[in-house]
Amino acid sequence: MNILHVCANPKPTEEAISKQLASAFFGKLIELKPEVELINVDLYDEKPPFFSYELYKRVWYPVFNSEYAPNKAEEMSTNYADAQIEKFNDADILVLTMPMWNYSVPAIMKAWIDQVLLPGKTFSINKEEGINGLHKIKRIVLLVSSGAAYKEDDDRDALSRQVRHAFEFVGINEIDVVWAEGQNPMFFDNAEESKSFAIEAAIEAAEDIAEMEI
Ligand SMILES: Cc1cc2nc3c(=O)[nH]c(=O)nc-3n(C[C@H](O)[C@H](O)[C@H](O)COP(=O)(O)O)c2cc1C
Repeated sequence: MNILHVCANPKPTEEAISKQLASAFFGKLIELKPEVELINVDLYDEKPPFFSYELYKRVWYPVFNSEYAPNKAEEMSTNYADAQIEKFNDADILVLTMPMWNYSVPAIMKAWIDQVLLPGKTFSINKEEGINGLHKIKRIVLLVSSGAAYKEDDDRDALSRQVRHAFEFVGINEIDVVWAEGQNPMFFDNAEESKSFAIEAAIEAAEDIAEMEI
């Protein structure tokens, strides 16, 4: 089982609740399935560039024009994307670790998603067959922490919606969400309890993944 873990959190683990969820998740998973192949991408060490015009031309022009030949700058614009896509396309499971920032994913995570979900690289797109994944990821585990608490379907939560829809687009429909909510102790007396609850949920998610026959 190949796991790609992408983390968007600049804080050290002792200060980052989402990273603590990741520690609990991987601690249990490796205990149950020591043979897992784990690739870690810390986005603050492997910073994604913003999506560029060159990258846009390189990946989208061929979708509409089979004659299109990229120039050198367009060719080189996929350097970061290709390195990440190699890891993405090798993975069976994708684990995403992040805090909620301004109701959504941290910008560095959005930039990574923009680099990875590319036509001809991680999905194919054409009139006859529509959109099909070129990867083999079966499931996503989303590990999040937020200051406030959001009920299911709360429309302020752009984070889980964005992750869900972006990856559904490329055929990944199974997402486990583990969420340490209400982590601002100024407003939530039970912040510690919510965190313990989320750590338990992270361990349960690891147990579920360990049972998958991959
Ligand atoms: C830049 C920034 C933006 C934030 N935006 C939100 C927000 O929109 N909603 C929320 O509930 N908490 C928000 N928070 C609080 C964090 O989500 C919260 O502290 C969380 O526990 C951080 O996770 P971490 O400990 O894994 O870093 C924000 C924090 C920062 C630093």
